[in-house]
Amino acid sequence: MFFGAILAGGTGSRMKLDTMPKQFLPLGDKPIFLHTVEKFLLVESIDEVYLGVHPDWLGEAKRVLTQAGLADRVKLVTGGGDRNSTIFNIVDTIESAHPGEDHVIVTHDAVRPFVTARIIEDNIAAAQEFGGCDTVIPATDTIVEGQDGEFVSAIPNRAVLYQGQTPQSFKISVLKQAFAELSDEDRSVLTDACKALVLTGHPVKLVEGADSNIKLTTVMDYNVARALVHRLDEETRD
Ligand code: CTP
Repeated sequence: MFFGAILAGGTGSRMKLDTMPKQFLPLGDKPIFLHTVEKFLLVESIDEVYLGVHPDWLGEAKRVLTQAGLADRVKLVTGGGDRNSTIFNIVDTIESAHPGEDHVIVTHDAVRPFVTARIIEDNIAAAQEFGGCDTVIPATDTIVEGQDGEFVSAIPNRAVLYQGQTPQSFKISVLKQAFAELSDEDRSVLTDACKALVLTGHPVKLVEGADSNIKLTTVMDYNVARALVHRLDEETRD
């Protein structure tokens, strides 16, 4: 089966709000995370959608989903202390509900509300074929490395560099295997689930993302999203 795993367990500290985590901020006529949830619900091949939410915000998430008439179609899961823990809380819930099979999980940041059906479908196909995949766009800026924070230590060839987005999608068996093979140190510092596969020698297929699939991290990103939401929502209904 194919599962959407939308990650909304963070607090959004870089958005510098003390009122609510950024995924609950309004964007157009609804909270950011609801845009994201609706994108997944529109993809026919997704069997079920799971939403990992910070424990303090489960009640509000439930209220928003109920008001939207979606409470029965989205399964709420308590988020973990870091992003990967939220992913594994969702994995555990899926495996309890659907034991004995290998499933594909499409993990996605709740704060990337402009993901498209095409990107989600390409993720499912790539994860099924290769075990894992990462959504990327070609790097447009030159990436400059400065090991000591003072001087340029390298300027890698931009032609082989990409910016990572989400979704990141996996066969659950492959994701669990990769994390089991990691050293304790790597497991404790790792923030990117695909990196677990890369470090342990599992293939990770590149999937073409989109410039519009932006992540809302700062107030600046939020302002950009508010300026774009109506146009992008129309364009991304593909
Ligand atoms: N996330 C999660 N569980 C966590 C931490 C993060 O599900 N324990 C989710 C966030 O809610 C977000 C996505 O992972 O949708 C991407 O993370 P990021 O943008 O870094 O979100 P935050 O951790 O909330 O932001 P910040 O780093 O600014 O605190």
